[in-house]
Amino acid sequence: MQIFLDTANVDNISQAAELGIISGVTTNPTLLSKESTADYETVTKKICSIVSGPVSVEVLTEDAKSMIKEARLKASWAPNVNIKIPITADGLRATSALSQEGIKVNMTLCFSANQALLGAMAGATYVSIFVGRLDDAGQDGMQVVQDVMDILDNYPELDTQVIAASIRNPLHVTQAALIGAHIATVPYNVLMQMIQHPFTDVGIKRFLADWKSVSKK
Ligand code: E4P
Repeated sequence: MQIFLDTANVDNISQAAELGIISGVTTNPTLLSKESTADYETVTKKICSIVSGPVSVEVLTEDAKSMIKEARLKASWAPNVNIKIPITADGLRATSALSQEGIKVNMTLCFSANQALLGAMAGATYVSIFVGRLDDAGQDGMQVVQDVMDILDNYPELDTQVIAASIRNPLHVTQAALIGAHIATVPYNVLMQMIQHPFTDVGIKRFLADWKSVSKK
């Protein structure tokens, strides 16, 4: 499994990159709008200078022709950029064309197994299942990830990686890993939560206290 960071915050990306466990980054227009420099090109180039793995950058257009044009431009920003395209009929048209040109697509906003299946058939390198938003709506988001993994197992010719996205908590990451999802893209705060456990803190304090009590003797 790989962990991507789901943010456009350059400081958080730098801090996470130092941990040596981040394989890529996913951004979206909402994440970018939270940053002071909401200039997609500048932020993307900065992120790509920090992370050598795949960096997802979303299109802001809706018809296939415009998406293709925008994707070509954004893919030229750095060699590791892939293009996030929403699963719509136009999105599928654009994905089919772009994948034939060798531009990698992350088919985003997938909420059903069929949407992800169509994305894979169109040649998307990644399909992103929005687990948290499905859970928020009272559905079982992780079941969709499981279903897509099962479907892809049936059809090895579909060479697509499943991203568990819209991750809300560390349990989502554990569940995605148990299912065998290729990637979980996690917000920075969830990554920090994954590192921590109260017993670890207690254990460190006790080890140090015990050592100090002996070394004073
Ligand atoms: C995926 O790539 C998206 O950026 C992200 O996971 C969206 O999740 P949200 O529901 O937290 O906005």
